[in-house]
Amino acid sequence: MKQGLFISFEGIDGAGKSSHIDGLAQAFKAQGRAVTSTREPGGTPLAEKLRGLVLNDVMDPLTEALLIFAARRDHLQQVIEPALARGDVVLCDRFTDATFAYQGAGRGFDVNVLSTLEGWVQQLPDTAAQDSIRQPDLTLWFDLPPQAAAARLAGARVPDKFEAQPIEFFTRVASGYAHRAAEQPQRFARIDATPARHKVWQQLTQVLVRKGWLSIMVAANSGPMG
Ligand code: TYD
Repeated sequence: MKQGLFISFEGIDGAGKSSHIDGLAQAFKAQGRAVTSTREPGGTPLAEKLRGLVLNDVMDPLTEALLIFAARRDHLQQVIEPALARGDVVLCDRFTDATFAYQGAGRGFDVNVLSTLEGWVQQLPDTAAQDSIRQPDLTLWFDLPPQAAAARLAGARVPDKFEAQPIEFFTRVASGYAHRAAEQPQRFARIDATPARHKVWQQLTQVLVRKGWLSIMVAANSGPMG
């Protein structure tokens, strides 16, 4: 059986992850892999309810962090761990790096508390591996200057609680991602999200081809448009 692969997608709002996640799902399927595409906060009925609260209701920062990690716990137990155990490729639109970037760097919430919650929530089901926690095998970080992201988002839709934040908030979130990437360079791949969509696609398929996870042929014959 194939080994499961856990890939997360990160970046500030407007960085343009979504079409690439769909494109990668198609590419992995073309290679005969089973794919679980999911998102955070969310991915289960309970976690999607919590997402609605987190994205729309005003609350204190600890409450927000606890709800996000509660959603993550349910998502890991119900969807991510079973999919990885089956050997699926799990493509997850945001994971814990978003919590460090948005709640930690963006809102200024205590990152030590976030680290503690991360350790509890992402404990591996296998008790033999107690000292390590579940993390993505690869995090594709779509890096884009906040001004460019804001221009892309302008007028696109009614903004949620985070999208409505001022540009300074996203400058802090972006630096939060950069900090996290510097701390865990083996897991992060920075994608320059500034150029046209097909150039961004080339960068991310190159990362996957280099890792031996995607064939050059499939990468060349697929794209963010499907
Ligand atoms: P996003 O993933 O951009 O979805 P959509 O494309 O549907 O808007 O939206 C999720 C929002 O939630 C985004 O603004 C970031 C925020 N968020 C956090 O603040 N902390 C987290 O831990 C996660 C996973 C998301």
